[in-house]
Parts: sequence; C-alpha cells; structure tokens
Amino acid sequence: MQERSSVADLVTVLRRELDRYSPGGKLPSSRALVDRFRVSPVTVSRALAQLAAEGLVVTRPGAGAFRARPRPSAAPAGDTSWQEVTLSADGAADLVPRSVDASGVLVSLDAPPPGVVEFNGGYLHPSLQPERAMAAALARAGRRPGAWGRPPMEGLPELREWFARGIGGAVTAAEVLITAGGQSALTTALRALAPPGTPVLVESPTYPGMLAIARAAGLRPVPVPVDADGVRPALLADAFRATGARVFVCQPLFQNPTGAVLAPERRGEVLRIARAAGAFVVEDDFVRRLVHEDAGPLPAPLAADDPDGVVVHVGSLTKATSPSFRVSALAARGPVLERLRAIQVVDTFF
Ligand SMILES: Cc1ncc(COP(=O)(O)O)c(C=O)c1O
Repeated sequence: MQERSSVADLVTVLRRELDRYSPGGKLPSSRALVDRFRVSPVTVSRALAQLAAEGLVVTRPGAGAFRARPRPSAAPAGDTSWQEVTLSADGAADLVPRSVDASGVLVSLDAPPPGVVEFNGGYLHPSLQPERAMAAALARAGRRPGAWGRPPMEGLPELREWFARGIGGAVTAAEVLITAGGQSALTTALRALAPPGTPVLVESPTYPGMLAIARAAGLRPVPVPVDADGVRPALLADAFRATGARVFVCQPLFQNPTGAVLAPERRGEVLRIARAAGAFVVEDDFVRRLVHEDAGPLPAPLAADDPDGVVVHVGSLTKATSPSFRVSALAARGPVLERLRAIQVVDTFF
C-alpha cells in the first residue's frame, strides 16, 4: 500500500514538473530523484514506467529518462458512419444473428465501492494473490532454456502433463491443449462443436460470459434449469430432444452463479443423456483451484470418468492466480481433439 501510494505521489509531482524540460530533454537521473524525494529506487522506476506508459516520458536503458516529444496532432476526423451500414448488413444471412455484446461481462469488472470486498467475481482480493510467488515463477520461466524459441503449438509438454494429472482418470498429456484463459478455451470449444445458427444448451442461471460467447458465435443458448444439486437430468434430456442440440455447457463444480456442485448420482446420468443424444458436454471447470484448504476432497472432473470422449474439459488458472495470467487447458478425446487442435493452431499461429 505504502509503495503504491508513494509511486502515485511521485507520478503526480513529476507530471507537474515535466514542463520544465524541453521535448526530448533529459530528466534528472534516478539517483537524483531517489535523493530528492527520499523514496526507493523501485518507487522511482515504477513512477517513470507509469509516465512512460502515459506517453509523457521515454526511458532508454543506460541513458536515462527523457521528456517525450509531442506526437503529431491527430488526423482530421473522418466519416465512419458507413460502418453502421456495413456492420448491420453483416448478419443478414445468419440464421441466428451474431451479436457481440460485452456489457453483461464488463459489469462484473466494475470496481466495488471503497471498503467492500467482492465475492461475486471469483477474483482473489489483492492481499490473497500469490503475487511474490507468481513474479518469481514468471521471472524464472522467462530464463528457461528455449523460453524465447518457437513454442509447441499445443503448449509445453510439462504443462500439458500437469493439467492431465490434475484432471485425473485416464486423461493423458497428448489429450490436453494449452489455451489462453478459460474464456478463450470456451470460445474455441463452441466453435469446434456447434455450427453457427444451432442451439447450445446452457445451465439456467449461468455465467453471463457463456451467453456472450454463444451469442457472439451466432448460437442459440437454450436454458436448462439448475437446482441445489446442479443441472436437472430429466430436463436436460427433454432439452436435447426438443432442440436437437449437440452441445451442453456445464459447470459441475461450484456452478456460477448458484455455487451448486453436481450431485454424485447425476454425474453419470448427465454423461449418459448427452451420449444418447450424440452430444458433447463442455465441462467448464473454472474454479477448481480456488477452494478452501479444509474443503475436503473435491469430486473429480467429469472428464476423468469419460472413456468415450463425451466431455470437452476446460480448466483455467485465472481464479487461483490473477486475471493477468492467461493459462488454461482444453482436454478432449477422439476426433474432436483434432478439430480443437486445428482451431487452436489457426487462431494462435505465429
Ligand atoms: C463460470 C466461468 N467460466 C469461465 C470463466 C472465464 O474463465 P477465465 O477467467 O479463465 O477466462 C469465468 C470467469 O469468471 C466463469 O465465471
């Protein structure tokens, strides 16, 4: 806290004093700023980094910090109104119009009022984030041999193995793809499984981000009610029959927003119902690692009890680490794995 506020104070003072230097002019050395403001070298370097991010200062390693030169004034505003016509004509041929609407998701990112600790978003309070451990681990990762070479498209073998072990059952590293966060993995899964215009069964209520993904993909989300034991199997079977859907998105562990855990007797039933419908279950296992230490053993992921490849599993590290850390995994078995891999390669190829 102390550190953060002294950085902010120093930024404010330096910003005010920048006019004293000509554009391109050199600012006092870090040493001089440390002495003058009686702050640590870390505070000075963070303050300069902040001013650099604002475009006010340019830092050159070994040479110092300089007042940034003004950018050429913005080009005259063009007329972008043609885009309204183009973008609204865009969906004319779609069976289900694709609508990309971030409002339902963004509302959960609003800063809480002062003094309020939020529980709804599932993000750790900063005091609980393993910040030091994460910083050290990332620094080590950046120095690993080969860290800056060409990565394998499916992700690092060790990481795939780690996720496979975490899922358990017979899941192997070869059935795991490393992805950039749960949201992106869910997007890939739906693209692989449901052609535009088709229905996708979702729990009701569900996580707004899921609805946003489905709608952005031109899919029709169909709600299937959840009770305290998770999704209701009889209604799931009805929904498959009524819609012909080929995908059901399920959060068996600590469902968002109800917190329900899929009851043991429903787990097999859900898989059997999906299998009978020739459908996939996308298992959104988003919060497995955010559990209290004394919570006791957790039910295994559905993917651990799924020899027939019904489940496409999504696991993510976001909630237990930080929303800045986009590491997640997709696990699947059978021909669908090839399709997921192809989408992953096309989307993330370098
Ligand atoms: C149920 C659920 N699934 C997926 C996600 C997105 O996962 P990630 O934060 O790893 O992108 C969230 C985020 O809040 C979520 O609540």
